[in-house]
Amino acid sequence: MKIAILPGDGIGPEIIDEAVKVLHALELPFEMESADVGGTAYANHGHPLPESTLALAKAADAVLFGAVGDWKYDKLERHLRPEQAILGLRKSLQLFANLRPAICHPQLTHASSLKPELVSGLDILIIRELTGDIYFGQPRGRRTAVDGHFPGADEAFDTMRYSRPEIERIAHVAFQAARKRGERSGVKKVTSVDKANVLETFQFWRDVVTEVHAQYPDVELDHMYVDNAAMQLVKAPKKLDVVVTGNMFGDILSDEAAMLTGSIGMLPSASLDASNKGLYEPSHGSAPDIAGKGIANPLATILSAAMMLRYTLRQADAADRIESAVSAVLESGLRTTDIASAGMRTVGTREMGDAVVAAIRTKT
Ligand code: NAI
Ligand code: MG
Repeated sequence: MKIAILPGDGIGPEIIDEAVKVLHALELPFEMESADVGGTAYANHGHPLPESTLALAKAADAVLFGAVGDWKYDKLERHLRPEQAILGLRKSLQLFANLRPAICHPQLTHASSLKPELVSGLDILIIRELTGDIYFGQPRGRRTAVDGHFPGADEAFDTMRYSRPEIERIAHVAFQAARKRGERSGVKKVTSVDKANVLETFQFWRDVVTEVHAQYPDVELDHMYVDNAAMQLVKAPKKLDVVVTGNMFGDILSDEAAMLTGSIGMLPSASLDASNKGLYEPSHGSAPDIAGKGIANPLATILSAAMMLRYTLRQADAADRIESAVSAVLESGLRTTDIASAGMRTVGTREMGDAVVAAIRTKT
């Protein structure tokens, strides 16, 4: 099992160190190799995604990524900025499926922006299509309008489009994820979110998802308009299980779902290709405001490593061991500052990682 470790910049190296420690504690035959990416790669090699880093990522079974985007590099031209590294990796590795679980750990229900009873036990999975939709659709540009409400005025336009294979493959990811989750939870349900009442692209989306569903009779499917989905996420989020949607709706809904759980410092993510190879990273960015202070929460990255074990490396037991260790550490009352609360012990990045390692060791 070859894992490419890409720490990045900002808090990236601090949180990745802890995840690597946790992976070592599992005592499994991993081959881990690190490379520069983002700001550190620019500083050392003059480019945010050097050829050697891309080659390492391509050769690996999975990539564990920290974060990029330190403010130090804000003044660079767009193609040299750290964020180009993550966009370049998604594109080169053809990572079309973005999986973002929104899990409210029972010990952290108070940190949610919703009432505890609405979020306690919350465990949903948002699946966002990542390489299509209006973000990449051509044509796009600026021109002088020849029709519309203001002929002759300057205007800008983008194109929303999805092809059948693009919708089919993301639908398969969703139904299979619902099946896998169902083995543990007993619930196998997919909610496909669209805007079929207004947009042709998303009527097509609804038709194709319904066709793919015929291959998964054991999984329940329902369809929801995106405006209603935005409401349901804050009204009754626990009624959802797996949510699958396009790139733009998924961008917005996955951030909304993240807030239900309290802290972005707790949320892992996966981006998968057609063979389930993938890149795993925390949902947050490089947090330049706290970089170098040793206070970042490493749990989102540690939980991303657990997702990597479950989805790409087929080591579900090892993934369970990490997740139970994280629960045990929260139960024991340790908190980083982003999830701190009265009566709990506030610890730094390294101490939190050490505690997860210790919890893994006591259980094995
Ligand atoms: P951010 O997620 O880096 O930070 C938002 C807030 O959450 C900050 O106050 C930060 O201190 C806090 N935070 C984030 N992660 C934390 C953790 N693990 N523990 C404790 N607190 C944490 O988002 P922001 O500020 O919008 O972006 C900062 C930079 O990161 C930007 O340059 C942005 O482009 C980049 N970015 C990179 C991503 C990636 O590497 N995939 C994703 C999102 C943003
Ligand atoms: Mg976003």
